[in-house]
Amino acid sequence: MTQINDFDQILKGRKSIKVFDENYKIPREEMDEILEKATLAPSSVNMQPWRMVVVDTPEGKEKLRPLMSMNTRQNDTSSAMIVIFGDLHNYEHAEHIYGSQVERGFMTEEIKTQFLDWVVPYYKGLTTEQMTSIVNIDSSLMAMQLMLVAKAHGYDTNPIGGFDRANMAACFDMDPERYIPVMVIAIGKKAQEGHSSYRMPVESVRQYF
Ligand SMILES: Cc1cc2nc3c(=O)[nH]c(=O)nc-3n(C[C@H](O)[C@H](O)[C@H](O)COP(=O)(O)O)c2cc1C
Repeated sequence: MTQINDFDQILKGRKSIKVFDENYKIPREEMDEILEKATLAPSSVNMQPWRMVVVDTPEGKEKLRPLMSMNTRQNDTSSAMIVIFGDLHNYEHAEHIYGSQVERGFMTEEIKTQFLDWVVPYYKGLTTEQMTSIVNIDSSLMAMQLMLVAKAHGYDTNPIGGFDRANMAACFDMDPERYIPVMVIAIGKKAQEGHSSYRMPVESVRQYF
């Protein structure tokens, strides 16, 4: 696909697309490149709690379909449905993340130990509601970045919140107590133009203080 490098064009060209070319499959190598760029997004204490299931096989789409509510057309035609989960036990990766920072010379072992001694017990002590809020925010930032990266790669997307949340983790044999579904992103090659949509004037949604 043709890459778009003009940021304004990427921003203004992104629209929710509901019908994709069902014969076009994004190569997995390119999909991984898109996901790798998307995960450059920032996250609270860099814990990167997003987890993704890329549903790009007919069998996977078939299994996901009954959970997609009014959004089956995107499921049927997209290259892939990217199901984004937030991992409530994200702190289990703290040692790996911060150990890698030390290895790369981004911080000293001492600072790492000091930081983890504070952050891991703090994260473990949060209520499920508090941690759900954190993983929702972090994963949504990544999701937004994913949609812009997809556009830069010449693809289109549709963020989807209308799906069966209660059964999503189990659909992929994941622990529903641990993995909270955040959003599904349909991605693929556009087959039908999206609708233009109105934005409120910035003066009506901001104030200077
Ligand atoms: C969190 C979230 C959930 C959404 N859920 C759905 C959905 O279930 N089905 C759908 O067709 N579009 C869904 N949308 C797309 C919005 O309708 C769309 O982003 C909005 O109308 C603005 O249009 P645009 O994306 O083309 O700029 C969702 C968007 C967001 C951000």
